[in-house]
Amino acid sequence: MASASATTHEDPEKLKPETRERHRAIVSIMEELEAVDWYDQRVDASDDEELRAILAHNRDEEKEHAAMVLEWLRRRDPQLDAHLRTFLFTDRPVLEVEEEQEEASAGNRQGGGDPASGSLGIGSLKGAP
Ligand SMILES: [Fe+2]
Repeated sequence: MASASATTHEDPEKLKPETRERHRAIVSIMEELEAVDWYDQRVDASDDEELRAILAHNRDEEKEHAAMVLEWLRRRDPQLDAHLRTFLFTDRPVLEVEEEQEEASAGNRQGGGDPASGSLGIGSLKGAP
């Protein structure tokens, strides 16, 4: 059987079906975002206005593709879902959001844990002395 992707780091036969599907999605997102980067560079470098417009259009379609697959992944990954809900679609400074979240989860741990976040609190130990 041909492998689904040449980029798994472990024997695909040892991977759960859902891990293989997530791998496909993650690789696809990587490819879409890499294409966005390449198109950005080609748009910058081209001297032909019409070609630049076409490349920019194609680049923006890759962003749509990346967003669609990211949403597929979010729906199947509760931790990713929680992080996206915390950090996306806010204009507040990202580090401020993280600091506030860590303070909140530290407070929740004192009160018996933070079941809503699904976090073990490992991330919030980063700033501990
Ligand atoms: Fe694409």
